[in-house]
Amino acid sequence: MKQSYKMRINRMTVDKLGVKLYDRAYAVIAELISNSYDADAEIVTVRAPMGQYLASKVGGKLQSKAVSIEVEDNGVGMCPEELQAFYLVVGSERRRDPRRGDLSKKHGRKVMGRKGVGKLAPFGVCRVVEIISAGGGKTSDNEQEGYRVAHVILNKEYILEDSEEDYEPEVGNLDGTLSEETYTKVILRDFDYRYVGTIDELGRQLSQRFGLSSENWRIVLEDTSKAVSHPEHRKDVGNFDVSIMPGTKIEFKGQHPTISQSSSSGYVVEKPDGTTNGLTSGFEVENKFYPVVGWIAYAKEAYKDELMAGVRIYCRGKFAAQTTVFNRASGFTGEFGIRSYIIGMLHADWLDEEEDLIQTDRRDILWSHELGAAFQKWGQKIVEHIGKLARNPMRQTTMDIFLKEGNVEERVKQEFPGKDQKDLRDGAIEVAKMLGKSMRGDEVYDQQMCEDMVQLSLMLAPLRTLDEKLREAGDENATPLSVVNDILRTAKLAETATFGRAVQKRIQIIRRLERLKDSKDTPESELQKLIEEAPW
Ligand SMILES: Nc1ncnc2c1ncn2[C@@H]1O[C@H](COP(=O)(O)OP(=O)(O)OP(=O)(O)O)[C@@H](O)[C@H]1O
Ligand SMILES: [Mg+2]
Repeated sequence: MKQSYKMRINRMTVDKLGVKLYDRAYAVIAELISNSYDADAEIVTVRAPMGQYLASKVGGKLQSKAVSIEVEDNGVGMCPEELQAFYLVVGSERRRDPRRGDLSKKHGRKVMGRKGVGKLAPFGVCRVVEIISAGGGKTSDNEQEGYRVAHVILNKEYILEDSEEDYEPEVGNLDGTLSEETYTKVILRDFDYRYVGTIDELGRQLSQRFGLSSENWRIVLEDTSKAVSHPEHRKDVGNFDVSIMPGTKIEFKGQHPTISQSSSSGYVVEKPDGTTNGLTSGFEVENKFYPVVGWIAYAKEAYKDELMAGVRIYCRGKFAAQTTVFNRASGFTGEFGIRSYIIGMLHADWLDEEEDLIQTDRRDILWSHELGAAFQKWGQKIVEHIGKLARNPMRQTTMDIFLKEGNVEERVKQEFPGKDQKDLRDGAIEVAKMLGKSMRGDEVYDQQMCEDMVQLSLMLAPLRTLDEKLREAGDENATPLSVVNDILRTAKLAETATFGRAVQKRIQIIRRLERLKDSKDTPESELQKLIEEAPW
C-alpha cells in the first residue's frame, strides 16, 4: 500500500538554502553524511563517479551525465510516517522535537542536525533527489516481518513551481514494502556542472568536514567510475592528518561537550614550554565561561591546499568554519608565517547552543555577534602567541630546507675541495645557515633565490672575521638582504669580494685555455665552447 506524501515549501526557501549556498559536491555529501551520523548509522557508503565533472558540454550546451551520487547508511531510517513528518518538513528543529531529540538513541551521539534544511543542500548541485528509507518499529505483513519502506523522488523543477499548493513528490515503487533491516539511501541525479574530487581529494575534504573520530562510525567511498577490482575503487575516509612543527603545539584541554559553563574549572592550556602565559581554554562573557577545546600549532610545511589552511572550528563534530588569523587586520609581525603555516582544530559546541552563530552553508561564523567577537579576540591572542612561539623552529626549518634545496654541502665541497680548505668550507656552511634562517618559507623553494644565496655563501666564506657579525644578524629578525647589507656596510667589502671572485674565475678560464691549446687532441668545438662561455 503506497502512501501519498506532501511537502509544504516555498520557492524562496529552496532558492536560499539549497541552490544558493551549496555549490560544492563534497559539502552536499557532507550534509547527507551528517544526517546518517544523527541516525546512528555505523557505516555510510558514498558512491559517486570521482575525479570528474558531473555534467558535460553536448552541442555547446551543458548536460548532466547519466550518473548518480548515492549516500547509503545503516542507521535507524524512516518509515513513511516519519519521512512525512521529519524529512518532508522544512525547517523543523529536530533537537527540540521530543520524538528525535538532542542525543541519538542508540549511540548517544550529540546530533549535528539543527535547522531542518540540510535535506535541501543537494538542490545546490542537482535537480532530482530520490530517498529510500526503511525505519520505524518492526511490523509484519502476512507473516512477513520487517521495517516499512518509504520511497519518494523529489524534483527541484516542480518544487520551484510558483504554486500555492503543497508539493506532492513522486512515490517510488518500493514504497510500502518491507525491509529486513533499517537503512536510508539518498540518490542524486541530473546534475549541474559540478566537480567531484578524486577518491583521495574527496576523502580529505570529508575528513576535514568531520572533526570527531569515533568507534562505530565509518565512512566508505566508492568510485563508481572505476572497476571494482581497481585499487582506487574503494577507500575509507581517514583522519585529517597534517604534520606539526615540533615545539609549537598549544593544547586546550577539558571535557566535552564544550557548551557554556558556570566557571572555567576543568579547562586548561598546555604549552610545549610548560607555561601558559595567561592563555585560557575559552573566554568569559557575562559571567559564563565558553570553553574551547583542541589545539593550534604550526604546520611543518606550508599549505598545499585551502583545506589545510588554518584553524578548523567544529560544533558538535561538524565543520563550522575555518580561519587563519581570526580576522586580525593585516600587517602584524610574523603574519606571512601564520597565514601559510598555522593549523589547528577547535571544538566549540556553544556555537549553536542558544543562538546559532554558524552560517547556514558552514563557511564562516557570525563574528559580529557578541560571542563571536569574544571568540575572535581570544583567537587573535592565541595567533599572536603562536607566532612568537613558532619563530625559532620556523627559521630552523627554512634553514634546513635551504641547505637541502640549494644542495649547499655539495656545492661548498666543489668550490673548496682542498684538504687545507676546511676553514673555508666551514665558513661557507656557516654563512649559508645564517642566510637560510633569514629566508622566508616561499623563498627557499625559489630556485633563483636559492642559487643567489648559495653564491653569496661561497663568496662570503673567506670573510671568516665576519662570523660574529653574521651570528648577530642571524639572531635578529632580519631578511637576507638586510643581513648582507649589514655585513657589507660594516666591512666595506662588497667591491673587493666581487672583484676578487671575477678575477679568480678569469684565471681559471685562462688556465683551461692553456691546457686545451697545448693538448694535441683538443677538438675545435671544445675551444669554441670556452669562447662562448667567456666572450671577453
Ligand atoms: N539518513 C537519515 N536517516 C534517518 N533519518 C534522516 C536521515 N536524513 C534525514 N533524516 C530525518 O530528516 C530530518 C531532516 O533532515 P535535515 O537534514 O533536513 O535536517 P536536520 O539534519 O535536522 O538539520 P540540518 O538543517 O542542520 O541538517 C532529520 O532531522 C531526520 O529526522
Ligand atoms: Mg541534516
